[in-house]
Amino acid sequence: MSPVELAPPALSGAREAFIEGAYLISSILFVLGLKSLTVPDRARRGMQLAALGMLLAIVGTLVHHEIVSYGWILAGLALGTAIGWPLGTRVPMTAMPQRIAISHMFGAIAATLVGVAEYRHLAGLPGGPGHGQMAALGFEVLFGSLTVTGSFMAFGKLQEFLPGRPLTFRGQNLLSAGLFLAGVGLMAWLVVAPQHPAAFLAMLAVGLLFGVSLVLPIGGADMPVVISLLNSYAGLASSATGFAIGNNVLIIAGALDGASGFILSVVMSKAMNRSFGNVLFGAFGAPPPPSAAPARDVAVRAITPEDAATELAYARLVIVVPGYGMAVAQAQHQVREMAQLIERNGGTVLYAIHPVAGRMPGHMNVLLAEADIPYDRLKEMEEINGEFKNADVALVIGANDVVNPAARTDRSSPIYGMPILDVDQARHVIVLKRSMSPGFAGIENELFHAANTSMLFGDAKASLAQLVHEIKQA
Ligand code: TAP
Repeated sequence: MSPVELAPPALSGAREAFIEGAYLISSILFVLGLKSLTVPDRARRGMQLAALGMLLAIVGTLVHHEIVSYGWILAGLALGTAIGWPLGTRVPMTAMPQRIAISHMFGAIAATLVGVAEYRHLAGLPGGPGHGQMAALGFEVLFGSLTVTGSFMAFGKLQEFLPGRPLTFRGQNLLSAGLFLAGVGLMAWLVVAPQHPAAFLAMLAVGLLFGVSLVLPIGGADMPVVISLLNSYAGLASSATGFAIGNNVLIIAGALDGASGFILSVVMSKAMNRSFGNVLFGAFGAPPPPSAAPARDVAVRAITPEDAATELAYARLVIVVPGYGMAVAQAQHQVREMAQLIERNGGTVLYAIHPVAGRMPGHMNVLLAEADIPYDRLKEMEEINGEFKNADVALVIGANDVVNPAARTDRSSPIYGMPILDVDQARHVIVLKRSMSPGFAGIENELFHAANTSMLFGDAKASLAQLVHEIKQA
């Protein structure tokens, strides 16, 4: 055998080893990245590790012998960058849930298209796809297609070009159950008899319809849980893609994505006191009553920035409770400035973080970290709740539902049972918000009428700027 004849297998072996090595290292980087994301001060490093892992996975894939056209890949890279760059740099934090929803949609489109192309390719070969291959392809296309439309519906609701309230009609659950069974039935049929392109297309159509019927009956306040669940579905679809095309890094990354999205959904639903069954079956569409507690006539006590500042300036312990309004106002930098002034006067400032404050997991942590607030001052709900009784001031900044005592006492309230921050136990509660409007759950908040609560009305950023100014004078 001549050396020329020997060369290709040796080269292909080296290439294979390089690809598998790249995939292995990138999988390890994904796991390390996820692990780092669990600790706030290592989260940035975690993202960098995961991004490096993704780069390695891409490089590994690009040297794959099945790559037929680098031109198409370059075009895809340019298109992806043109879409991804503005998504990453221009979208504000408050619009993050819908940004994530649309990203899932893109990921699911990719998984579905790969599944369709692979089926077409295998169906053209003698013998067609094997039963195992068909199971992976079916799973990929069914989960992928329902995630495409489900994520698009979620995006539309959050971006408000679709009605945010749950859209239900008689027989809604029956339709969803029917579509689900039809999709699974078609998949099972294809696994037994893969050479049925019409059944494959029908399964694709059923998946797309199921995504719509799954998300339409779900209301705005529950959308982040749905998005996390769709994240899990997109991950499972990618994992199935990995099985279908024999790509190890896709199997691992998809499984990580699927599992972490699932765990996050469970954690979020627990924090919102939703049952896990509700999450799984998408049955949490019941619209929350606009106001569970009747509007009250009791006057609220307004406080001036001067009085609030005097109190804060001499407080020994201030617990800041950030909420969605702080994110809207982008007031985190003013919060840090105010805290530094209080600390300079000898006071202590802690931050009480409710697991579902804001509109996505970790929303408050990210904003406070952006303002360089030390991580060790951020306290989880279980850790800080016992401290409120020692606090001179609980400063509630644009938070509402997560401090609503109705969750403890009012059985008719849609948030009854949700664990809340016990701010009402502080000596004085000062609430920064613009009006008496309700929060996400659309319900009255008795806290605002309590004897130890004062309202500082106005945009959170403007109010905090005034407080900073006044504390400096005090
Ligand atoms: P919310 O209950 O939504 O209350 C936010 C408050 O911020 C509003 O009452 C609003 O009152 C005020 N606000 C808005 N813009 C403001 C501004 N510029 N300056 C000052 N205040 C402003 O917020 P929360 O307490 O953070 O609770 C989060 C809600 O989202 C919960 O119901 C939770 O279940 C839901 N949710 C969260 C998640 C995650 S993962 N975070 C997921 C699903 C659902 P004004 O209009 O009067 O100013």
